[in-house]
Order: sequence, then structure tokens, then C-alpha cells
Amino acid sequence: MKNYSHRSRILITGGAGFLGSHLSERLLNDGHDIICLDNFFTDTKDNLSHLLDNPHFEMIRHDVTFPLYVEVDEIYNLACPASPIHYQFDPVQTTKTSVHGAINMLGLAKRTKAKIFQASTSEVYGDPEIHPQQESYWGKVNPIGPRACYDEGKRCAETLFFDYHRQHGLNIKVARIFNTYGPHMHPNDGRVVSNFIVQALRNEPITLYGDGTQTRSFCYVDDLIEGFVRLMNTNDDITGPVNLGNPGEFSMIELALKVKDLTGSDSKLIYKPLPTDDPKQRQPDIAMAREQLGWNPTVKLEEGLKPTIVYFEQLLSSSIK
Ligand SMILES: NC(=O)c1ccc[n+]([C@@H]2O[C@H](COP(=O)([O-])OP(=O)(O)OC[C@H]3O[C@@H](n4cnc5c(N)ncnc54)[C@H](O)[C@@H]3O)[C@@H](O)[C@H]2O)c1
Repeated sequence: MKNYSHRSRILITGGAGFLGSHLSERLLNDGHDIICLDNFFTDTKDNLSHLLDNPHFEMIRHDVTFPLYVEVDEIYNLACPASPIHYQFDPVQTTKTSVHGAINMLGLAKRTKAKIFQASTSEVYGDPEIHPQQESYWGKVNPIGPRACYDEGKRCAETLFFDYHRQHGLNIKVARIFNTYGPHMHPNDGRVVSNFIVQALRNEPITLYGDGTQTRSFCYVDDLIEGFVRLMNTNDDITGPVNLGNPGEFSMIELALKVKDLTGSDSKLIYKPLPTDDPKQRQPDIAMAREQLGWNPTVKLEEGLKPTIVYFEQLLSSSIK
């Protein structure tokens, strides 16, 4: 491909989503040209409205399960519904998005000789038997449960990335992303941080599943995006998979109380049964990211929750108007 400009042309699939919109903004600020692809399955253009007039930003309505012909230097493959409510809505399409999407984007990377990044997930570890999870752990996934369309789809996408790397010499970068939060999350996708904040802001009961002692670690979106860019810019011999997440562990009760405190809400805590295959604990081991990327999350939970709460306050007040 002849690119006479010093700017890289970067394709982001799922670019209208929570992470994709932050990544688009970051890469535009870094001086690149962005092609943002999305079929708007879970998101609208709202996350990108501030970028649409930028001449270096281009939006394409397209489904990654179909081939795409563009000329690019780098591809970030993020397209996939990410929350259980969204990915269980049409599970067959979820697997297709991960698997056919990976095949199509890897084919594009092969033709254009582009570097390609895959947004994989901590869900490839399933309900893990070891804590924290290192990249060498192969996981414990139920292949026929309701979460399998996502977990196994992402596992198969990783397989495809590594086979294209071994068979065709593609320059791949695979990140296993752990729970991330921040502005532009969906208000109704059932993910715990958005759930708790929305419930607290509405003074509705905050819903805990099980006894609320299960733990999660939460990474602020700016930290995660920094990890993406660092991984993409590593030498060709670094492929991942590499865990990206914040190892700080919090129980669901602790998170609920923090949200209640920061929002000044009167919400009560209520308890419901645990959903099927819900992991009891998940925590990344990020030694590899520290060593290979020099990356470390820096935003404390309380600091990241503040702008996230402001975002949801604005969203809820504009939807009331
Ligand atoms: N946010 C997290 O905590 C997290 C954790 C682990 C992995 N990930 C991965 O990161 C990626 C982005 O997640 P997110 O939180 O931004 O989710 P999101 O749902 O906000 O964004 C995903 C985007 O992909 C689009 N999309 C879905 N199917 C598509 C298709 N067939 N063709 C084109 N576009 C399609 C959606 O419309 C949406 O805009 C996903 O692949 C997800 O699996 C996210």
C-alpha cells in the first residue's frame, strides 16, 4: 500500500462502542487517520458525535461478518457485543461476529500487510481454578452454557490469530481484557459498574448477586487504552496474549458502597441469585504487561468512578429532558 502521508491509517472495528470510541479519540489525538467500522448493534453514533466533523475520522456502517476492502496500516478488532445481555440476545450472531469477524479482519491484514490487534477477554479463562490468572492458564470454560457464544467465540478468534501468525507470518497483538469501566459505557447493559451507578443515581435498590462477596477487578478506560496502544507498538516478536486489567480486587459489596458514597444516594442493597456460570473471582496477573509493555494501571477505583458518575448523571438528565 502506498501511503504518502506520515499518518498511519488505522481501522477500528466496533469503533462506536465504549472502548472503540475512546480508542478513536486517542489515536486521532496521536495524529493518525481513523476508519471506524460499526454495525451499531449495541451502540449509536452518540459516543462519536464529537469526532464526526474531524476530517481525519471516517465512519463506515458495516458488519464484520462480511468481508471489507479498505487499505490500512493497522487494525484494532474490537467488534463484538461485550456484555452478557447484549451477547446473549442473539448468541449465534455473537459467535459469528467473533469467528467470521476475525477471519475477515485477518484476511484484510494479510492482504494489506497491516498489524492486527485482537480485543480478547478474561472470559477465555472461564470460571478459573487459579488466582490471579496468568496468560499460561488455559481456562475452564463451559462450552455449551449460555455464555459460551462469547467465551468460545473469543477463544476461537485467538486460535485464528495464532494460526494466521504461524501460517502466514501476520504481525498479531492479542490482548486479554479484564473488566473495564468509564464514560461511554451503556446504561442498561447489566455490567456491574454501570448497573450500580444508574441504580444509585435513580435512588433505586442496588442489586447484588449471590451474597455479594464475589470479587472483580476494574480498570479505568484511559489506562486500558494506553495498554492497547503500547501493545500495538511493540516489536514484531511480541504477540501476546497479554492480560490488560487492574489487579486491585473489590467485592461487589465494596463497589456498591463506594458508588453509594460517591453519588450520595439513598439506595438500599438487595440480593438476587447468582447467574449461571458467573465466576466467583477474577483478577489479572499483569506481570507480562508490566515487563513487555512497561504498562501499569494508574487510576484508582475512586478516581475513575468520579468521571464515570458525571457521565451517567448527564446521560440520565438528558434522557429525562
Ligand atoms: N469493556 C470491557 O470491560 C471488555 C472486557 C473484555 C473484552 N472486551 C472486548 O472489547 C471489545 C469492545 O468492548 P466494548 O466494551 O467497547 O463493547 P461495546 O458493546 O460498547 O462495543 C462493541 C461494538 O461492536 C459493535 N458490533 C457488534 N457486533 C458487530 C458486528 N457484527 N459488526 C460490526 N460491529 C459490531 C457494536 O455495535 C458496538 O459498537 C469487545 O470485543 C469486547 O469483547 C471488553
